[in-house]
Amino acid sequence: MKKILIMNGPNLCLLGTREPGIYGSETLDDICRRLELEAKELGAELGFFTSNCEGELIDALHAARGVYDSVVFNAGAYTHYSYAIRDAISAIGIPVIEVHMSNVAAREEFRHTSVISAVCRGTVCGFGSYSYSMALRAAAEIL
Ligand code: DQA
Repeated sequence: MKKILIMNGPNLCLLGTREPGIYGSETLDDICRRLELEAKELGAELGFFTSNCEGELIDALHAARGVYDSVVFNAGAYTHYSYAIRDAISAIGIPVIEVHMSNVAAREEFRHTSVISAVCRGTVCGFGSYSYSMALRAAAEIL
């Protein structure tokens, strides 16, 4: 059975109340519960890790080695400037799928740059919480 880690970075713990016009009204718990159901159908086992702290996210990426087959990761704003997270993704040798709920290319200019895309296996963005579902499916079926 494939093991997939669902990781969320800064401010994603506020989903449900955070800018609902952009991110919708589902909480992160709602999304994770749905992903659990989808994972069962796909025959995959999930782990979850959420943190607002860059170092904790890096530690979780390191700890994923030898435990998970792949990682589905919404790095939040760290996406746009954290070379430390980019280096961690590159270092662990596990495929990571970059996820964004919003279409970052259609938003402020600083969101147009992702310093992690080049070291991720692929990116899903712009489909709200379904971005996670699409990434999960890819992780379970392709990676
Ligand atoms: C986000 C997009 C980022 O630019 C932003 O900083 C987030 C959420 C998304 O899911 O659309 O925190 O990653």
